This record gives sequence, structure tokens and C-alpha cells, in this order.
Amino acid sequence: MSARDGTEKMLFTAEQIAARVRELGAEISRDHAGSDSLVVLCVLKGSFVFCADLCRAIDLPLRVEFLAVQSYGSSTKSSGDVQITQDLTRPIEGEHVLIVEDIVDTGLTLSFLLGLLKTRNPKSLEVCALLHKPARKKRHVDIDYLGFTIEDEFVVGYGLDHGQKYRNVPDLVVIDASD
Ligand code: IMP
Repeated sequence: MSARDGTEKMLFTAEQIAARVRELGAEISRDHAGSDSLVVLCVLKGSFVFCADLCRAIDLPLRVEFLAVQSYGSSTKSSGDVQITQDLTRPIEGEHVLIVEDIVDTGLTLSFLLGLLKTRNPKSLEVCALLHKPARKKRHVDIDYLGFTIEDEFVVGYGLDHGQKYRNVPDLVVIDASD
């Protein structure tokens, strides 16, 4: 058995992802040059691999916070009924906050998160997403830093799962997740 059993096609190799993450890190470092208070907010679970790599590509002082969300629906479709299952442990008031998301699909999760976090009065609130699937957009959200735009396919690996599987596959791969 291998971690990628059941996957169908390669979308981005680990090398392609690493190159793009380095570019995103450089862009974020440039845009925030001089800042000494960036809070990188990792949205669990899907962003844990991306966020770990992105943080190391950002050459600025920063702190990392974690927040876990769950969106109820089928295993592949967000219902928009988003719940925080693990909240931040420290306030973000007056801080420059960068939300790190694995994928923006319908946009429902991120728009919920943006609404919630704005009420906590950060100095600024930006979004960095690894993937964007515009074909399925239901809610518009501004993505300040984006890794890749993809077709309407179900993608796993590099932290993204299907039924909690595949998060440890180093590449981004497509699976048949029709349910
Ligand atoms: P949204 O609320 O529809 O934008 O969905 C966001 C969440 O759905 C992501 O953070 C993922 O956890 C999950 N998701 C959406 N599309 C995919 C995919 O292709 N692969 C893995 N997870 C996905």
C-alpha cells in the first residue's frame, strides 16, 4: 500500500509547489517589509503543510496561530454551515493578520472566517490561499496571495484530504471523489 493509492492524476509536483511557495513567501516578505507584528493564522487541518512551508519562506518576524474549522455537508461539498472547532488562544486586536487557507472552493468557509475575525479588530486582515477553484464560487472573497487557480476537480495531498486520507502525499493530486 502507498499513501497515494486511489489517486488519479498529478496536478502539481512537490517541486512545483515548493517553487510557488517560495515566490509567495518572497511576495509577502516584500509587502510587509518593516513589519514586526505579522500573525500567520493557519486554518486547520488542510493548511498545516502549506503553512509550515510558507512560514519558512517568509523572512520576517512572525507568530503562528491555529484555528480549526469544520464545514458540515458531504465529504466533498461545503454547506456553508461552518463551525469553529478550535479557536485562537491569543487576541488578534491591533495585529496584521494573514489567514492561510488550503483551498477556496465555494468561498463559504473563508467568508465566514473573515466575518468572524473582523469582529476581533485586527489592524489588517489578508488571505493567502494555496488553491482557488473559481468554477464553484458561491461567495466572493478577496484572495491577496494565491498559489494556483485550478479546475473543478477534487484535489488531495500536501495537507488536503478526502475522508482524512492523503494529507501526507507530497504532491497535489486529483482523485475521483464523486459522492
Ligand atoms: P469552501 O467553503 O467551499 O470554500 O471550502 C473550503 C474547504 O473545503 C477547504 O478548506 C477544504 O477543507 C475543503 N475542500 C474544498 N475543495 C477541496 C478539494 O478539492 N480537496 C480537499 N478539500 C477541499
